[in-house]
Formats: sequence, C-alpha cells, structure tokens
Amino acid sequence: MIRIENVNKIYKTGDIETAALKDVDLTINDGAFVVILGPSGSGKSTLLNVISGLDTVTSGNITFDDTVLTDLSPEQMTAFRRDHLGFIFQQYNLLQNLTVYENIQIGADLSTQPLGIDELLEQVGLSPARDKYPYQLSGGEQQRVSVARSLAKNPSIIFCDEPTGSLDEDNSKKVLELLERLNTTYGKTVVVITHNTGISAMADDVIKMNSGRIVELTHNPVRQAARDIAWG
Ligand SMILES: Nc1ncnc2c1ncn2[C@@H]1O[C@H](COP(=O)(O)OP(=O)(O)O)[C@@H](O)[C@H]1O
Ligand SMILES: [Mg+2]
Repeated sequence: MIRIENVNKIYKTGDIETAALKDVDLTINDGAFVVILGPSGSGKSTLLNVISGLDTVTSGNITFDDTVLTDLSPEQMTAFRRDHLGFIFQQYNLLQNLTVYENIQIGADLSTQPLGIDELLEQVGLSPARDKYPYQLSGGEQQRVSVARSLAKNPSIIFCDEPTGSLDEDNSKKVLELLERLNTTYGKTVVVITHNTGISAMADDVIKMNSGRIVELTHNPVRQAARDIAWG
C-alpha cells in the first residue's frame, strides 16, 4: 500500500513559485487499478514523480508498506525504484540501435529476479518481432515493447504517464488490455495518468486533479473491460 500524506510540491524558477501539489492525501491499495485524470498543468505528472521518487516533495510524507520513501537518501530511493517500480511514458524511450529483445533485456538486467524475455514477448504479442529494431515497428508495437521492458524486472507497481497519448484507438486498447491483464492476472498495482476520461471506466479508483489538488475521488464498484471502453 502507498500512503501519501499532506504532500506539497512547490517548484521555484527564479522568483516564480508554482504550487504543483497542494495538501494531497491519497492511499493506493495493493493490486488496485488507479486512473488519474485532470487538465494539463493540474499536477498529475508531479504527483506520479513524487510518489515514485523521480522528484522530491516540498513537505509531507509518502510511505510504501513500512518504508517512508520521503526519508530515504537519493541512493536508497534509486534502489527502491529499481527493485519495485516500473514506468511507462508517452514516449517509448526505446534504444534505436538495439533490437526488441535487447531493449527488453535492459529492463531485465536491472533485476536479480527478472522475468523471461521470450515469455514477456509472448505476453505482449511481439514474439515475431523479437529481432526487429524499433523503427521497424508501429507506435503501438513500440509501446508494447516498452511495457515489456518495464515488466522485465518484475515490479510490483507500474506507473504510466499518458501511455496512450501518442496512439490511435486500436493500439491504445491493445496497450490498455495489456495493463488490465497485468493487474488482474499478475496482481500488479497499476497507476495510469490520462486525458482520456473513457479510460477511467477501467479503474477501481479514479482521482480527479485540478490546480494541484485532488478534487474528486471515485470508486467504481464494477470495472469495464479495456476493449469495451468508450473512446474519446
Ligand atoms: N520542473 C518544473 N519546474 C517548474 N514548474 C514545473 C515543473 N514541473 C511542473 N511544473 C509546473 O507544475 C504544474 C503541474 O505540472 P504537471 O504536474 O506537469 O501537470 P500535468 O501533468 O497535470 O499536466 C504546472 O503549472 C507546471 O508548469
Ligand atoms: Mg503530465
């Protein structure tokens, strides 16, 4: 379980201060599928970045099970991130001069207990593309490689910042079905930031942000399948 207590984040650029997170309180349960919605600039990425230790908080506490993340040194936080967290971004961030297999290998190399790369390729439906290079793949296929790469180290939580932001509906749904399967079959906690309100129907919990605050928390008693969500 992740507990976020009274978290504030203020960015200072010269004389200008931006309060990107204001008094944020939130609990993310193990195995939950969480969607974070909100307009551009509302603090979604900042929230994800401070939860995952990619950025520091200005005040407040973040706890993962019994570990107070906000008390860890940068080195300890890096180790925690490496061992427990997976990331998927709008940009696929694949290395262009490595094959699909080799890109996933990079994720596996981060772990002492990596998942099998060929099995991961099977899971994301890309076994035939094993020896191709990123430029030989569609955007949707590249994003599925990045999903496999983030999974290779077997993280317990997967953070996704606009994972379908560059994809059309068909490819988006393939990526979302994959995230859904990771959550339901493998019990991974999945946190997805999106502009697309349709995706919120897939979630257990929907968090709406505005101007750095959580303005609404909704629990869906029933989740919609990724393939059935309304797009737009
Ligand atoms: N590194 C940064 N330095 C200064 N301001 C930032 C930085 N990152 C984000 N911000 C500001 O914080 C606010 C929240 O940004 P962000 O979390 O990226 O929003 P979202 O992901 O919802 O679009 C915005 O006003 C943005 O300009
Ligand atoms: Mg963002």
